Amino acid sequence: MYPLKTVHPSVPPFHPPSHFKFSSESHFSHEPFPHTGCSVFDYGDLTFEDVPRADWNTSWSVACAVHQVAKAVCRVIRDGHTCVTLGGDHSLALGSVFGHSLAQQNPAVIWVDAHADVNTPLTSRTGNLHGQPVAFLLHELQDKIPSLSGFSWLSPCLSARDIVYIGLRDVDPAEHFILKNYGLQYFSTRHIDELGIHKVMEMTLDYLIQHSKRSIHLSFDIDAFDPSLAPATGTPVPGGLTLREGLYIAEELHNSGALSALDLVEVNPRLGSDPNAADVTLDLAMDVILSCLGKVREGMHTKGYRLP
Ligand code: ARG
Ligand code: MN
Ligand code: MN
Ligand code: MN
Repeated sequence: MYPLKTVHPSVPPFHPPSHFKFSSESHFSHEPFPHTGCSVFDYGDLTFEDVPRADWNTSWSVACAVHQVAKAVCRVIRDGHTCVTLGGDHSLALGSVFGHSLAQQNPAVIWVDAHADVNTPLTSRTGNLHGQPVAFLLHELQDKIPSLSGFSWLSPCLSARDIVYIGLRDVDPAEHFILKNYGLQYFSTRHIDELGIHKVMEMTLDYLIQHSKRSIHLSFDIDAFDPSLAPATGTPVPGGLTLREGLYIAEELHNSGALSALDLVEVNPRLGSDPNAADVTLDLAMDVILSCLGKVREGMHTKGYRLP
């Protein structure tokens, strides 16, 4: 996972901040990003401590990694740009959302996912932290979260009214209780069937933005899409979003002008039954990112273009 930084063409060329420690792969490209006109600065991969395989899913190893994500995301957003974080599993959103909230007051979160990821360590049936990030972030659930090793840096930064889910269709009983009991706003795939994605996005943005200006954090789990489109992911659920629904969400968030952070998570090129699974899933993830950054389906031409 690594955060990318984008610079809108109207903004003067970006020079890497001197305080940032770059990994050897980091580079700044003045070339506009394909289809969007954005410039991209790759902050490089974050370097994580080597953890023995047995400890991969322990709270301590995840906590150390997502703490680094939080610091990196905070830095990129403080520099005034949109931060793209590529995962990796959805536990990284613990860090990216927290980091966003350090850089900008009270961000709104749009969580596009088949799952609500709002189990607590005590309700989780799998023990996977990727099924729990929202619970760690919510003020309202803090008395339900036992203190876990490695997470002392994290404090809740969202209220139930600051998040909207889109695409839910696999919600555990405890998660359903939490959604209803704390009044979390969500649009399941059935709501999308009923209302259409256009209305869902209109309602989502009205609800989150209302009159105040605030920045938006899009946490996009690739398993929101139908598994036929996104097979290379760990917890696929049938009956997911179509490509057009996913792109519409991304385009509307670009059009809002308020998108400060985007997580694109749960892309796992090692998974999927046939040899094309990784490629199609990666292409799809790229399409979502490009649409979030301004790619439009009708095409576009550069300013001053003249017909030959
Ligand atoms: N609800 C299940 C769990 O708690 C599945 C979560 C899936 N989340 C994900 N980010 N893939 O384990
Ligand atoms: Mn998820
Ligand atoms: Mn999911
Ligand atoms: Mn995981």
